[in-house]
Amino acid sequence: MTPAPQDLLTLAVDVAAEAAELLMQGQSGVTTAATKSSPTDVVTAMDRASEALIVQRLLEARPTDGVLGEEGAAREGSSGVRWVIDPLDGTVNYLYRLPLWAVSIAAEVDGRVVAGVVHAPALGEVWTAVHGEGAWLHGERLHGSQQTELAQAMCATGFGYEASRRTRQAAVLARVLPRVRDIRRLGSAAIDLCLAAGGLVDVYYERGLHPWDLAAAGLIAEQAGLTVCGLDGTPAGIDLVVAAPLALVGELLALLGEEPRADSD
Ligand code: IPD
Ligand code: CA
Repeated sequence: MTPAPQDLLTLAVDVAAEAAELLMQGQSGVTTAATKSSPTDVVTAMDRASEALIVQRLLEARPTDGVLGEEGAAREGSSGVRWVIDPLDGTVNYLYRLPLWAVSIAAEVDGRVVAGVVHAPALGEVWTAVHGEGAWLHGERLHGSQQTELAQAMCATGFGYEASRRTRQAAVLARVLPRVRDIRRLGSAAIDLCLAAGGLVDVYYERGLHPWDLAAAGLIAEQAGLTVCGLDGTPAGIDLVVAAPLALVGELLALLGEEPRADSD
């Protein structure tokens, strides 16, 4: 039987809270355990501990589900439910004691995200969404920006870790910056998308996001009324994620697509 998305969200919220507590307790003295795509793409022991806890708790509750986690969790399930997990989004912020980091857990049913939570304990924020039921922050329904002029829009974005990708992203940024109110680079894609959901930034774009960066927070932004899409309005993915009010999507996509891109820069 297909589980109710609200029940999946309840489980995700509980597990994310437990992982957030683990990360808060483990932050003191944390250091880099390994690097991934570049010397600055770091993973700490806490990323791994958080993922292990999340996977254990989810599978205790729902043993036949699948999982996909940034730190390597990958399991085919038989229930039709798959959990997409970023155990610590904003790892570099976490290392530097900047408060913009979060646990992100989404539930997919038959390949479609139906529920998601982003828990940012150092901010005291827990964003949630269920497909068709809106996006919420502490009991308040979220509505994305109503901005209609790109020149007045606050734009969040992020960068990958590889130098070559960053060079291309800097070129895109140089084109965007004169055309918007200002830019914010906060260091957590999940939080960027949740802030867009609440209208604290007007638009967000980034290339190179992975499913775990996007799954929960993309649903939250979409359920807050924003358009979440990729290149030329295709589904958001590694090539591009844009979250923006409908009135700004076309102009922003056109601006981002003005110059040829090399892969997913
Ligand atoms: C990163 C953050 C960052 C974004 C990168 C992500 P991580 O995730 O979300 O804001 O710009 O693209 O990889 O490595 O901290 O989980
Ligand atoms: Ca991460």
